[in-house]
Amino acid sequence: MSQDYEQFILNIKKKTAIDLSLYKEAQMKRRLESLRNKRGFDSFQAFYQAMSSDQTIFDEFLDRMTINVSEFYRNAKRWEVLEQKILPRILKENPKPKLWSAACSTGEEPYTLAMIMSKFQPLSKVSILATDLDRGILERAKIGLYTDRSLKEVPKDILSAHFKKDPMGYKVNEDIKKTVRFQQQNLLADRFDQQYDLIICRNVMIYFTEEAKHELYLKFSQALRSGGVLFVGSTEQIFNPAAYQFETEDTFFYKKN
Ligand SMILES: C[S@@+](CC[C@H](N)C(=O)[O-])C[C@H]1O[C@@H](n2cnc3c(N)ncnc32)[C@H](O)[C@@H]1O
Repeated sequence: MSQDYEQFILNIKKKTAIDLSLYKEAQMKRRLESLRNKRGFDSFQAFYQAMSSDQTIFDEFLDRMTINVSEFYRNAKRWEVLEQKILPRILKENPKPKLWSAACSTGEEPYTLAMIMSKFQPLSKVSILATDLDRGILERAKIGLYTDRSLKEVPKDILSAHFKKDPMGYKVNEDIKKTVRFQQQNLLADRFDQQYDLIICRNVMIYFTEEAKHELYLKFSQALRSGGVLFVGSTEQIFNPAAYQFETEDTFFYKKN
């Protein structure tokens, strides 16, 4: 690693507690380098100095490093498995399950979960924690306004039941919004609560180094009750689930023993 980038990593860690060394280096460096060059800085040191005095540059950096793409019912078949197989078992074991969408981005994931939960129980009983590193994105998630791009997998009946047409797109109904509590959190640094029945963490672990993933799987396993499930993204299979007290309940669903 170049000394310039290494020093940048240290500076960012001091300023934000975000440890860029826990993200796959080549990918992260390429993303940041292209932004740095676009802004006309020829070293990471100069780039860091600029963002220290200019909030816009810092926000732009944060926006570039956190890849926020999301959509409702992402990989719809997996949500079907959640609805038809995983949740019925979980609800039989605990009618008031503790639910967490980790790295929730603009909110499509926790809201999808709320819409599915509404098929099992009144929304007034549903409570979901949704967390992300990026504060700005959480503010957008709370507003709950979406364009067609993130809605293409939403079944027609769900769209008419849980969204209202808005001049800007579609807005999630208040009763769904009320079930979700958004909170800023760094998965790679902060403590987790315990006794979760379901943790959804999708399409973020692909950006982490193997060591960071290992630590995170351990933390997720500790945060789940036995019988609780970790639901991961469709490129994020865990290769040695038993090392984390997990068994595969279905593809991309890991049940804690
Ligand atoms: C590609 S989005 C995934 C959104 C959603 N889970 C999905 O699958 O559609 C990745 C999200 O991970 C968040 N993220 C990145 N690093 C994180 C960290 N260390 N702790 C918590 N969230 C993080 C980013 O801010 C971004 O919103």
